[in-house]
Amino acid sequence: MGASRAKTGMSQPLILTTLGAAFFFFSGATGCPTFPPSQPNPYNYNNTTDPTNGGATTVGKAACASCHPDYAERVEQHAHNAFDCEECHGPGSNHLPNPFARMLFVDLTGAQTCGKCHGKPTETDAGEIRARDEFVDQNQQWVELRASGGHSSFNCGYCHDPHYSTVNDRPRGLRNECFACHEDQNMALHKGKTFSGVDYVETLTCESCHLPNAVLKDMVMPPDVVGPYAHIADRQSHIFRLSGEQVDFNAFLSDDKMSVRLDSEGRAAITADMVCLRCHNSVSLPTLAFTPERAAEIAANVHLDTVLNQKRLRELARQP
Ligand code: HEC
Ligand code: HEC
Ligand code: HEC
Ligand code: HEC
Ligand code: HEC
Ligand code: HEC
Ligand code: HEC
Repeated sequence: MGASRAKTGMSQPLILTTLGAAFFFFSGATGCPTFPPSQPNPYNYNNTTDPTNGGATTVGKAACASCHPDYAERVEQHAHNAFDCEECHGPGSNHLPNPFARMLFVDLTGAQTCGKCHGKPTETDAGEIRARDEFVDQNQQWVELRASGGHSSFNCGYCHDPHYSTVNDRPRGLRNECFACHEDQNMALHKGKTFSGVDYVETLTCESCHLPNAVLKDMVMPPDVVGPYAHIADRQSHIFRLSGEQVDFNAFLSDDKMSVRLDSEGRAAITADMVCLRCHNSVSLPTLAFTPERAAEIAANVHLDTVLNQKRLRELARQP
């Protein structure tokens, strides 16, 4: 993967998939998938509890690939291609002599695989979402998801296939698009809208707002790219919850700016300066540039689908 996949002014092809791909993995042909989604494969996982596979030793990816070439091919486009299958499936030496006896770990909750690299709290860490330079620090999807309210009990596998890349092979990498479960939600005034920057085109989706670039890996967007008020970094958050009530990132972070602020139910909420202002700034959309206050005011009612409200918000957006 490149050093940065920030969405502003960068070239990142955006692939819009049809819902077909999302439904494909589930037994129900229409409507919401079974919840929680069932496992989309015929294996019986009779060896799921021991990540050490009975004290086996590692055999390396080439050995796995010799009998599972299809899986080796699946992971090729993934950032995970850099590591062995055994990083998630445990050491494989006991599986090889008699594969039908399994002796291989398959983690159906993600707690012992996804969690270990994507931010699951350890015994020595409080389980907070760490901040760095006024953004969420990278690779904390596990704790972000716990703070997401509606998705807090999900595991990564509800949305991601563990083998196919989400970033480079989205139709197969993402098992469920948002609409699979939120079929009645509207596009919050942005249906069919397209945002273009230098060398960059984005058709608005739910993620354009709900997976905002509130996470810092390598770089923060400077004012000559996103204007003076926007607070945008280079990776997408898994908090999903947005706030129209608070004005800017100061409310999103704790007072000492070392972590993300959580409410009494353990939830976080990302402010409009980290969401709307990626696009609605004086550089990218000069005729619809918002201050953080204006953005928050519109954001608070942006899904309310009445003619009157939408008219009011459109007018508000165009006031100086
Ligand atoms: C000698 C061929 C062979 C090798 C080498 C091999 N496998 Fe398998 N694997 C199989 C067969 C056969 C099955 C059972 C398929 C079935 O029952 O349909 C299987 C099943 C599995 C399963 C399903 C386990 C379950 O509990 O249902 C996983 C996961 C797996 N292999 C991963 C691996 C990994 C990782 C490696 C490398 C460490 C590996 N395999 C090496 C042949 C092999
Ligand atoms: C990032 C962790 C991860 C890596 C790396 C990984 N797997 Fe898996 N694998 C899983 C998880 C989790 C499942 C459980 C089922 C699911 O959610 O699809 C699984 C399931 C399987 C299965 C059972 C059938 C299925 O699709 O669910 C096989 C076979 C398998 N993996 C083989 C491999 C092989 C071979 C490699 C290396 C080329 C590999 N895996 C790499 C996490 C991983
Ligand atoms: C051994 C550590 C490790 C494990 C285990 C692991 N990941 Fe990752 N994962 C990474 C790293 C490192 C990256 C690259 C991060 C970056 O570029 O910022 C990554 C990237 C990703 C990406 C984005 C890249 C792409 O090509 O789609 C997804 C999605 C992802 N991981 C999901 C998962 C899921 C789901 C699991 C559990 C089944 C998991 N990871 C287990 C280390 C891990
Ligand atoms: C409710 C659905 C959902 C759940 C649950 C979910 N993800 Fe994601 N994830 C997404 C979507 C959608 C994307 C964005 C894909 C894109 O735009 O390329 C994404 C992207 C990613 C990326 C790449 C984003 C980046 O900016 O680097 C990583 C890494 C990732 N997810 C890891 C995880 C891990 C680990 C878990 C479990 C702790 C998880 N996800 C749970 C929906 C989900
Ligand atoms: C597997 C089903 C599923 C998928 C996929 C899914 N959601 Fe959800 N989502 C839920 C459920 C269940 C709730 C909690 C009940 C509710 O609020 O409707 C929820 C709640 C939410 C909430 C409210 C959070 C809060 O507590 O304030 C937001 C925002 C949200 N989802 C956005 C998204 C977006 C954006 C996507 C796509 C990236 C997505 N969801 C994908 C099932 C899903
Ligand atoms: C223009 C940005 C934007 C887009 C696009 C957007 N949302 Fe939202 N969404 C928000 C904001 C801001 C909030 C918080 C304010 C509120 O509660 O209405 C929110 C709240 C929500 C909530 C929780 C409150 C509720 O209405 O249930 C859910 C669920 C949700 N969005 C899902 C989605 C889904 C699914 C999509 C895609 C169909 C989507 N959103 C598209 C900005 C957006
Ligand atoms: C990915 C970029 C992007 C994001 C993020 C985004 N917007 Fe927009 N928005 C657009 C584009 C593009 C238009 C259409 C501009 C035009 O017509 O010239 C638009 C139009 C609007 C309009 C006018 C709608 C109309 O039909 O006249 C309002 C109001 C608005 N956005 C509010 C918001 C709010 C509030 C947020 C944050 C919750 C937000 N937007 C997030 C790109 C974005």
